[in-house]
Amino acid sequence: MRTQVAIIGAGPAGLLLAHLLHRGGVDAVVLETRSQEYVAARIRAGILESSTVELLESAGLGERLRAEGHEHRGIYLQMPGERHHLDFVDLAGRSVWVYGQTEVQKDLVAAGTAEVHYEVTDVEPHSVDADPYVTFIDSAGTRQRLDADVIAGCDGSFGPSRAAAAPAEMYERVYPYSWLGILADVAPSTDELIYAWHPDGFALHSMRSETVSRLYLQVPNGTDPADWPDDRIWAELATRLGHGQDGWKLTPGPVTDKSVLPMRSYVQTPMRRGRLFLAGDAAHIVPPTGAKGLNLAVADVALLSTALIALLREGDSRLADSYSDDALRRVWRCTHFSWWMTTMLHTGGDPFDAQLQLSQLRWVTTSTAGATGLAENYAGLPLGF
Ligand code: FAD
Ligand code: PHB
Repeated sequence: MRTQVAIIGAGPAGLLLAHLLHRGGVDAVVLETRSQEYVAARIRAGILESSTVELLESAGLGERLRAEGHEHRGIYLQMPGERHHLDFVDLAGRSVWVYGQTEVQKDLVAAGTAEVHYEVTDVEPHSVDADPYVTFIDSAGTRQRLDADVIAGCDGSFGPSRAAAAPAEMYERVYPYSWLGILADVAPSTDELIYAWHPDGFALHSMRSETVSRLYLQVPNGTDPADWPDDRIWAELATRLGHGQDGWKLTPGPVTDKSVLPMRSYVQTPMRRGRLFLAGDAAHIVPPTGAKGLNLAVADVALLSTALIALLREGDSRLADSYSDDALRRVWRCTHFSWWMTTMLHTGGDPFDAQLQLSQLRWVTTSTAGATGLAENYAGLPLGF
């Protein structure tokens, strides 16, 4: 087989890259180890920043997002006894949208622009410095070779592209806590997301629709979801989110999904080796507190698609040569923001740290300068940042 761009991974980065390349007149083939149904059903990110929404719209993927997504002006930041609203539109001129990663994935599949080979195995990039190709075993069990001008590694944190892009610098921070996340068939008890600092640990009230809520609790690493029956989760969420405070109530409901998510920051540089380009989680991971993972993957692919179209259609390598540096400016900004939100909101048991966190939260919620910094980063920087 031969194509212009061999894309490894059919998550949001890989599928969106294939879609943007197709619109730019460049052929791509996507290889994915999982089934189409499995990829479409994975519950992950839920918040799209404004530049992600603009990019999806300009790529013809905005129709259902506008109809079924929910625009939020901001978020609530909470400490015991206090809930403050930060209005991103007033502070930074930008909003965010609640629209699940599963929905973005469905829209990309429905667009039908990507040739995807699902349920392949033994995917291996080769000869990335000169004449790249990828070998794999297709779903019928036949060994295949896919020759390409370029390989795009969009295979997340466990795929083979990361190692194939070495030698590289790796930067990592592992946090001493995880999130226990639930999806529940109950109307959200809030109009916008609540990020809550609490001495027992962080809690987040998010949502997917008028009838589906998404909530998270800070738990110790190694937590077994089996130790958290639904009643215990709802009781802990009620405590940390302030049930009863100023008449506010958390309404529990049937839990349809429960999982534990470890928290990690990771950046690999450069995001390129020869003819192999990395995008999304293949190059970087952020803890979810800043809601940046999916948005960063989209921002990478916006840059990479433009660079590859210029390279493969006009022989102009300038944007491809600057791709890694261009993408990393935003990656490091979001890595810092995600680390900052995470360390401001998660408790570690140290009383000195707790006072610093509360002081910082008071500053962010009472100073326009402090609130604007958070708003600008959360609602997202312009794509060219
Ligand atoms: P992925 O979505 O990981 O896609 C990579 C694809 O490559 C996958 O489909 C995978 O099956 C495939 N693949 C892997 N290995 C191979 C191989 N050898 N060959 C071929 N294909 C391969 N972000 C938030 O902002 N908020 C959240 O709440 C949130 N929750 C998350 C929960 C979990 C469990 C995880 C893992 C991530 C979460 N994220 C969250 C992060 C966000 O979902 C990711 O940043 C986003 O999915 C990145 O997209 P991607 O396409 O780069 O990677
Ligand atoms: C989610 O809805 O899953 C979500 C929202 C905001 C975050 C993280 C996750 O910061």
